[in-house]
Amino acid sequence: MSELNAAKEKFAKIIESQLLRIERMKQQKDFLDFKALPKIIIGVVGGDGIGPAITSQAQRVLEFLLKDEIQRGRAEFRVIQGLTIENRVKANKAIPDDVLTELKECHVILKGPTTTPRKGDRWPNVESANVAMRKELDLFANVRPVSVPEKGIDWTFFRENTEGSYVVGSSGFDVNEDLAVDFTITTTEGCERIARAAFEFAKNSGKTRVTAVTKANVIKTTDGKFLNICSQIAKEYPEIQFDDWYIDIMTAKLVDEKRRSDFQVFVLPNLYGDILTDEAAEFQGGVGPAGSANLGKRYSMFEAIHGSAPRMVDEGRDKFADPCSIIRAGAMLLNHIGYTAEAQKLYKALDICTVTEKKLVITGRDTGATSAEFADYIMETLKRITE
Ligand code: IPM
Ligand code: MG
Repeated sequence: MSELNAAKEKFAKIIESQLLRIERMKQQKDFLDFKALPKIIIGVVGGDGIGPAITSQAQRVLEFLLKDEIQRGRAEFRVIQGLTIENRVKANKAIPDDVLTELKECHVILKGPTTTPRKGDRWPNVESANVAMRKELDLFANVRPVSVPEKGIDWTFFRENTEGSYVVGSSGFDVNEDLAVDFTITTTEGCERIARAAFEFAKNSGKTRVTAVTKANVIKTTDGKFLNICSQIAKEYPEIQFDDWYIDIMTAKLVDEKRRSDFQVFVLPNLYGDILTDEAAEFQGGVGPAGSANLGKRYSMFEAIHGSAPRMVDEGRDKFADPCSIIRAGAMLLNHIGYTAEAQKLYKALDICTVTEKKLVITGRDTGATSAEFADYIMETLKRITE
């Protein structure tokens, strides 16, 4: 019986904290207006493994593009140290307090990969720094674009980032030796804001269709709520077509060459978004080159979606790591804070350096270019585009 009471108590705590979170969401102001800020503070977080090596190269590229703005005092880069697995384990926190304080002094963040401990490896069960940052800074929209023009693919995923099976991910518990419980959570506020973000994006970028992906036929209460709210918000956008699919068939449709190019914007709960975006990224060369935006009303964070590759560091190969994903995340960051022309230039340079011209190749070893050489190549290309 004491097991049952202990479980009830844990469950009560989770519900309590979620009710409080709903109150906080209700009080939130609108998105930050970057134009109104005297200075935009850009935090640069290296993270673990190859993170610091590639993130510092992305920073060089962004500083190059924002040179004048930095000089005029309109933009400032701040390197934030300490979001490493060692420090996180030492503090027994997903994000150590001093790091969180520094993060909160920024407006936008560029983040390298961080190591996520999993059951059975050498690290204790600290929560994923990614997931924690999304929660702490309330970065509710994870936006992942996937574009493969030659295949007619131009998708943008709006993955809900703060709820679903992730929100209380590390609060699941073993009731006893035989029974383990995890939780999935869906709130009205959480669904409304992600659905609206997806429809607003569609409206502002001339898209004509938004597709919700759930498993509402089985996960009836939480996915059902997500789907209902998406359908309701869709009514506010009569010019945009809305449809919904189940996650299993959607994973199949993405490989259906006849149908897949019809999809434009997807909106989906956290876990399905995690899975489907990895599948989608594979069409443009895997998660390596992809970047992702994590948007909230007050903060936003831009990251590479690949892992921290600790083995490359162990083997002394981190300087050969591919910085494309984090540089792409940097382009998304520029776009988000209003430097759209600079962002376009950077996308163009990435395209020249990785597809059309490809003077340097990155192999992850000394048979290819270093991250620094690649960043130099990007900057030379940017100069050429400007001239
Ligand atoms: C991602 C990653 C993370 C996630 C991991 C590292 C916790 O896979 O950004 O997609 O599942 O969200
Ligand atoms: Mg993932």
